[in-house]
Amino acid sequence: MAVGIFDSGLGGLTVLEAASLRLPDVPFVYFGDNAHAPYGVRDADDVFNLTKAAVERLWDAGCDLVILACNTASAAALRRMQEAGMPQGKRVLGVFVPLIEALTERDWGDNSPPREVAVKHVALFATPATVSSRAFQRELAFRAIGVDVEAQACGGVVDAIEDGDEILAEALVRSHVEALKRKMPNPQAAILGCTHYPLMEQHFQAALGADVKVYSQANLVAQSLANYLERHPKMLGEGTNSMFLTTGDPRRVSDKATQFLRRKISFVAA
Ligand code: DGL
Repeated sequence: MAVGIFDSGLGGLTVLEAASLRLPDVPFVYFGDNAHAPYGVRDADDVFNLTKAAVERLWDAGCDLVILACNTASAAALRRMQEAGMPQGKRVLGVFVPLIEALTERDWGDNSPPREVAVKHVALFATPATVSSRAFQRELAFRAIGVDVEAQACGGVVDAIEDGDEILAEALVRSHVEALKRKMPNPQAAILGCTHYPLMEQHFQAALGADVKVYSQANLVAQSLANYLERHPKMLGEGTNSMFLTTGDPRRVSDKATQFLRRKISFVAA
């Protein structure tokens, strides 16, 4: 009964951590494609092929359900994988919808027509690939009307986080927030549309100011996953062991992950 969680690198650990706290009895198999991170500067075909290979590895590890804890992969690969058809009993879910449901004050799975919502000016921070996919705006348009979204492609932030260079990551966050504010001086809400960014959440909040509500995915996705598993208990899969898999150097990735989560994490080669 294991659930797979996938990211290009370390960012999905923010989702894994929240999901493990919310569902302490569920084993999770994490796959970080660290050898190929960042995905945010790759083209859609490349992201699709890498994501598909990782998901297949998680299916082989006994996970019937895989969460793409990566917005870039969710934007470039999820729909294509679903349209190509999944093997019997396998399922892949992305991370956009829980966030957009929270922003648009919807309950889980509420597919009623789009309506006016309280928030009117939203800043979106994401990788270049996610921003250019316009996937957030598309999902938002299904649920809300009259929301003005200004997107900022945050080049360099994922690389700095993957390299463990927090000073550079913080400086980049500040400059991306300034760039966003030149285009939208008074956002009411900010979406952190990359699972690496919760690691920088306090820096986003400080640069945006206390009156901007920052939406970050980890807890929202964990809550949605708990709801989903309640409704589909069979999707727990047959794996029974938690594991951390990486395509990168397991020792280096383990050190970084341990630093981020402040508990011992041991990756093995995927
Ligand atoms: N955590 C991934 C996301 O949510 C980062 C993608 C990347 O590797 O650039 O988009």
